[in-house]
Amino acid sequence: MTINHPSFGQLPPDRVVVFDTTLRDGEQSPGFSMNLAEKIRLAHALAELGADVIEAGFPIASPGDFDSVEAIAREVRGPVICGLARSAPGDIARAAEAVRPAERARIHTFISTSKLHMKYKLRMTPEDVLAAVTSSVTLARNHVADVEWSAEDGSRTEPDFLARCVEAAIAAGATTINIPDTVGYALPEDLTRIFTDLLRRVPGADTVVLSAHNHNDLGLAVANTVAALRAGARQVECTINGIGERAGNAALEEITMALRTRQDAMPWHTGIASERILRTSRLLSTITGFDVQPNKAIVGRNAFAHESGIHQDGMLKNAQTYEIMTPESVGWTKTSLVMGKHSGRAAFRDKLASMGYAGIGDNALNDAFRRFKDIADRKKIVYDEDIAALVDDELGRDHTRIRFCELDLHAGSRGPARAELTLEVDGVRRSATETGDGPVDATFRAIRTIFPHEATLVLFSVGAVTEGTDAQAKTTVRLSEDGKMVDGQGADTDTIVASARAYVHALNKLMVKRLRTQPAELSATG
Ligand code: KIV
Ligand code: ZN
Repeated sequence: MTINHPSFGQLPPDRVVVFDTTLRDGEQSPGFSMNLAEKIRLAHALAELGADVIEAGFPIASPGDFDSVEAIAREVRGPVICGLARSAPGDIARAAEAVRPAERARIHTFISTSKLHMKYKLRMTPEDVLAAVTSSVTLARNHVADVEWSAEDGSRTEPDFLARCVEAAIAAGATTINIPDTVGYALPEDLTRIFTDLLRRVPGADTVVLSAHNHNDLGLAVANTVAALRAGARQVECTINGIGERAGNAALEEITMALRTRQDAMPWHTGIASERILRTSRLLSTITGFDVQPNKAIVGRNAFAHESGIHQDGMLKNAQTYEIMTPESVGWTKTSLVMGKHSGRAAFRDKLASMGYAGIGDNALNDAFRRFKDIADRKKIVYDEDIAALVDDELGRDHTRIRFCELDLHAGSRGPARAELTLEVDGVRRSATETGDGPVDATFRAIRTIFPHEATLVLFSVGAVTEGTDAQAKTTVRLSEDGKMVDGQGADTDTIVASARAYVHALNKLMVKRLRTQPAELSATG
């Protein structure tokens, strides 16, 4: 049946609402935190991807969270912008204030409903919880027409009590009802039972959007989401690359491509522009410094690679023999070989536009072009992936007090390595020469000499953007200072230069973080 929804109008029964929580459930997992500029950038990419709802954060959790939800609500047009709130009036007021500038705003309020959570976590009786459901949804509805209510630990909640809570939330004005598998414990048949049961017994359940939010502790998040859809859910809560609390959330790219590929069994559609999936996945990897594993469905490097002779033979005869969807449909390009050292700025700009970087500003374009020329001089073949890595690298450098200028190295098996490094700090070029235990150590020591700081290095990782010995290295450096953690990324054909760039990037981010004195963050829920 068609649902009359305050944000979407008449929602036909075959339309699945995609609720992206990369910036909330995803961002709160260790190592995935993003700064304001990064969150805004990702939110724009999610809007272009076609997410219907962006859960931008948990405004009461910290001033930083509040600011990013508010900034996204102000700047990002298209999707509904949502802020998370517990059932307390203070949480709801803060979420309402943060999402106020949005074109279409949603408050998402939740409370635990399982016996275990009510007794040990909330120390509330079921009747108190029921009262909180009504009061929180009523309060949220005083601020916005679009209110989502979630039963935390819903999959482990007694069916009768869950039905009573859902009924109370609908009666108080909730327009979306979300039943999370908070701890990733459920099996697909549990989801089938839960949604079938709610639709059968709760008055008005068919007039609101039912939603599934599954965690991946048993690797079942996407399967559970599909089961929920087949039992009548029409909103999926998911994240890019499946990032999220613990083992993560259901992956947006997997759910949307399962729906697209299996229209025979699931004749429903989303608003996702699937050709933008890979680019959005890569943007998230660049921002967070975490690549997906090679065999990750849809966006992993090997997801469309056919290695065995039998498969390759079949592919040459007819691609459908081993390919259930085309690589192009999710954004992989057939010919990733691109321009060379003779390509000009106009061709470079065209290339960027074709890769989805249409709105890149002149300064970032010039810097990226200079680096492209440099790479084209040094590297036999420049791939789309190389260009994407260096442009993402440039676009990520918004807060730059320190700039990398040049690096000379003496390394090898004889004697300590020596790094001669020049950085620009607040517009002034400064140089230092340091020795160390290998070239990376010498380079990082030189950075410390030029720009003394207390932060400690807690993670250093190196990956290759493409294949071959002339591939660009993509490096991540994580620094920690006074409990604050930042990740920096760098890309270059020279691994040590990429490492220096990553370190400098992390330092720039740390300085932005220092400017913000945040009170202790609340521990958000999964
Ligand atoms: O996993 C969970 O229960 C959540 C809720 C806040 C929706 O993330
Ligand atoms: Zn969650």
